[in-house]
Amino acid sequence: MSGAETQDVMAVGPVHLERIDHVAVITIDRPKALNALDAATLRALDNVLDALTSGDGGEARAVVITGGGEKAFVAGADIAAMSVLTPVEAARFATLGQRVLDKLEALPMPVIAAVNGFALGGGCELALACDLVLAAPNAVFGQPEVKLGVIPGFGGTQRLVRRVGSMRARELVYTGRNVKAEEAVQIGLALKVVTEGTVKDAALAMAAQIAAQGPVAVRLAKRAILDGDGADLRVGLAGERTLFALCFTTADQKEGMAAFLGKRAPGFTGA
Ligand code: CAA
Repeated sequence: MSGAETQDVMAVGPVHLERIDHVAVITIDRPKALNALDAATLRALDNVLDALTSGDGGEARAVVITGGGEKAFVAGADIAAMSVLTPVEAARFATLGQRVLDKLEALPMPVIAAVNGFALGGGCELALACDLVLAAPNAVFGQPEVKLGVIPGFGGTQRLVRRVGSMRARELVYTGRNVKAEEAVQIGLALKVVTEGTVKDAALAMAAQIAAQGPVAVRLAKRAILDGDGADLRVGLAGERTLFALCFTTADQKEGMAAFLGKRAPGFTGA
């Protein structure tokens, strides 16, 4: 990313948004609590996600999300805050967490989690809502909720099954055990482990590679994959055909194909 221009776009409480060229970077920065998600942090993330789709993210073509400090991506939902919740408040808290992670998952552009340490409970669920997950060597994943007498509440019982398969998800949720970086890759919880100290840069490099492609095509590809997730194959394929055809309304399709035939690099505009 050398030569790239970094811009601070906004900070809402402990959640910061920066832009580096066409890549938006979200940092959850509450390192004293290992970036644990309390209601205020979730609302701040919600606001930052809204900013990304309302244009304040500066036409981001890819997003990187990471944790502040050296030790954690996000160590879970905030246990101190949860410890005093009534059942009604717990329902509200889970609804808030699920709504924000749904919004993250549904962002039109791909999201890469740069997991720089603990990604436990709500932190693992945050990574599960991302398109791609890169792990630092010290990354630790897991759904330890049963150790606290509760179950995952921000989508862990649903997205973990879809990402790693039903039996592996059951094992992780029922035992609450930690999964280190290498195993996370083996079971499909992370894409790869990168060299120590480079996870954010590796995520930025991957995001830049995504941002260099036809931006409308990347968004429509994400749409097709998300819409097909869990859908009947015929329904998913029908959606793919429609979105494929939609690409042919764009200037980027004309430019991408003309550039190939003209043996030159494409200049995509996202139109
Ligand atoms: N919530 C609130 N505070 C947390 C936290 C969390 N999830 N995780 C860590 N912290 C706080 C600690 O209380 C501690 O604060 P103080 O310095 O004020 O005591 C600080 O962060 C540093 O943590 P530790 O001293 O515990 O650091 P460590 O290196 O010894 O251990 C750890 C690190 C293994 C991640 C440990 O902190 C831990 O087990 N954290 C809890 C992980 C967890 O259970 N997450 C799931 C939460 S439940 C959930 O997420 C439900 C859901 O799906 C909605």
